[in-house]
Amino acid sequence: MKQMVRVLLLGVCGYGSNYIKEISERDTPGVRIEGICEVVPNVADLYPIIREQNIPIYKSPEEFYREHQADLAVVSTPIHLHYQQIVTCLQNGSNVLTEKPVCTSVQGARKLEELERQTGKFISVGYQLNYSRDVLALKQDILSGKFGKPVSMKALHAMRRGDKYYARNGWAGRIAVNNCAVNDSPFNNACAHQFQIMTFLLGDRMDRAMELARVEAEPYKANRHVENFDAIAIHAETVNRVPVWYFTAHALQEKKLGPVAEYRFEKGTVYFGRDYGSGPKAEYVYEGDDGTVTDYGKIAKGERLQKFYDAIQAVRTGSRPVCTVQCAIPHLEAVEQIARIPIVQVPEPWMQDLHEEDDTFHTIKDLQKTFTWCYTHQEMPSSVGFLDEK
Ligand SMILES: NC(=O)c1ccc[n+]([C@@H]2O[C@H](COP(=O)([O-])OP(=O)(O)OC[C@H]3O[C@@H](n4cnc5c(N)ncnc54)[C@H](O)[C@@H]3O)[C@@H](O)[C@H]2O)c1
Repeated sequence: MKQMVRVLLLGVCGYGSNYIKEISERDTPGVRIEGICEVVPNVADLYPIIREQNIPIYKSPEEFYREHQADLAVVSTPIHLHYQQIVTCLQNGSNVLTEKPVCTSVQGARKLEELERQTGKFISVGYQLNYSRDVLALKQDILSGKFGKPVSMKALHAMRRGDKYYARNGWAGRIAVNNCAVNDSPFNNACAHQFQIMTFLLGDRMDRAMELARVEAEPYKANRHVENFDAIAIHAETVNRVPVWYFTAHALQEKKLGPVAEYRFEKGTVYFGRDYGSGPKAEYVYEGDDGTVTDYGKIAKGERLQKFYDAIQAVRTGSRPVCTVQCAIPHLEAVEQIARIPIVQVPEPWMQDLHEEDDTFHTIKDLQKTFTWCYTHQEMPSSVGFLDEK
């Protein structure tokens, strides 16, 4: 009999619904929900498993730990609650799988690393691409030196989001909530992954990402009802001097753009989203300058919530999942540095409000064209006449 892993779920009505549904629907052997922390009053009406298995619901992890213990706490609460909740869970003897970002500051993340050492428990961060088996195979190949040294990395990923998205909770698009930095934006939230994965792939070990030496960025805001920016171009440089370009937005006229990525190495290039004649191929493909091709799409990616299964496995074996707190730090470094850069309000002539399917989207005209050009040529929007007189 496998060791029963007792799980505490924190936040089950947003993204966290994925975990409770996975456990309910997949009937994962050897996993039991020991308790739930949630503030939505009717949560027991939402998931039948709660009544079927008599799962207790608490308002805070402190209340839960007065009566229970958990081997793994899964944190899917608002960003600004992560730090304190993770501390409580570690101090009460749980390992933690937290949704990204791990917390709201690099300083906080380093303190969490220290607390992991003190408690002997792990924190695993929920950037799901890091757990995907094709990505891990690609990283192994990068680390083995097969492609030579990294030369430059770039990615483009934008998803249109409107008023409904920003109205779903009290912190979407906010810079701070109750004096705590949230820095919610497409870069810190919905489109975080394509940037974070570049720093992860550049890491010098499987469980490390490459930290940043410098971050330049142009944050733009179209939606006047939102505090933070909703489009951004980023040009960073890692501590091992690899330039990293990233373009992301919610203020897009089209429904989505990308993801596309190009990672250039001394001996060839890794593409994601390259069009080989039948539309963009949403897989990583390495094309060596000597004609070698490796299609990572042929590797089975694993489970949709592989991060959860890896955390369960790590609890059982006493190992640590691959996406450590350190793997979350370069993204957090960029978020913190960008927060110091003034946001450019997009002038009226460049804006277009679109009304579709009961939603309103505050978009920037020609953003797709500009970001595609900037991505292709590795330029910042201001240097190609973006937002000049219209
Ligand atoms: N990995 C991904 O692809 C992905 C996608 C979306 C969101 N996320 C992450 O998931 C986290 C949650 O995002 P969301 O959009 O679901 O947020 P949300 O605010 O919509 O939902 C958060 C949940 O936490 C609950 N909650 C609020 N305060 C609480 C408290 N004090 N104690 C316990 N529960 C509380 C809310 O009721 C809600 O159920 C964020 O860290 C976000 O970045 C990850």
